Amino acid sequence: MIALGIDIGGSGIKGALVDTKTGELVSERLRVDTPNPSKPEACIALIKQMAQTLNYKGPMGVGIPGIVIQGTLYSAANIDNDWIGLNAEDAIARETGCAVVVRNDADVAAVAELNFGAGHQQPGVVMMFTLGTGIGAAMFVNGRLVPNLELGHLYLRGMKKDAEDYASDRIRQKEKLKWKEWGGRLHEYFQHIEFLFSPELIIIGGGVSKKHEKFLKYIKTRAAVVPAELRNEAGIVGAAVTAVSH
Ligand code: BGC
Repeated sequence: MIALGIDIGGSGIKGALVDTKTGELVSERLRVDTPNPSKPEACIALIKQMAQTLNYKGPMGVGIPGIVIQGTLYSAANIDNDWIGLNAEDAIARETGCAVVVRNDADVAAVAELNFGAGHQQPGVVMMFTLGTGIGAAMFVNGRLVPNLELGHLYLRGMKKDAEDYASDRIRQKEKLKWKEWGGRLHEYFQHIEFLFSPELIIIGGGVSKKHEKFLKYIKTRAAVVPAELRNEAGIVGAAVTAVSH
């Protein structure tokens, strides 16, 4: 089956048509800058344009950086606060005429990795983290997703700030951290995660995961830590798969 996957991020909105059986993109990958401010109307207008460019009116899945319950946003990180309280599924469906499913961005990226990537057919507790502007988190127990884990907002060692303000890729770039230094911060973070959840496998995604040789070696946990395989496309692919299998 073909579905449209959309990935709303702090810096870009990406989309493509996906073959949900194989996880392959079957159209060009479209990308536009996220509008500033990233108000719902402005973002939804761009999503509508994407669907029109692809001449598409079928099931659409959307990943977004926030807590999503039954289509409504309960938090908004790195996107405008006007999203909070909005039923994004209804709002996007009204504009595009598509049947829309909206989920947390890390959750859909993890769905892609579990179906087609590093977590394929992995039993037990599997966790995925996306390192980007924030830290996204997802957990599967025997293939079933536990949605809306907000583990980028944990406090480490009583620090009065969120872990993602200490160990995200945004902070690595902003503070010009050396790989080893950043790897050390990630090590601290994942040790704590392991203590809390005892996952058997940890998958690391986000754009920076393509440079995984530079930093994964510093993360020493009992669980294996592996890079995501779908990289940049996980958000799009997972959103599309979710649209047809929720
Ligand atoms: C948000 C999450 C999101 C993650 C990755 C965090 O700041 O709270 O909902 O999954 O960033 O985008």
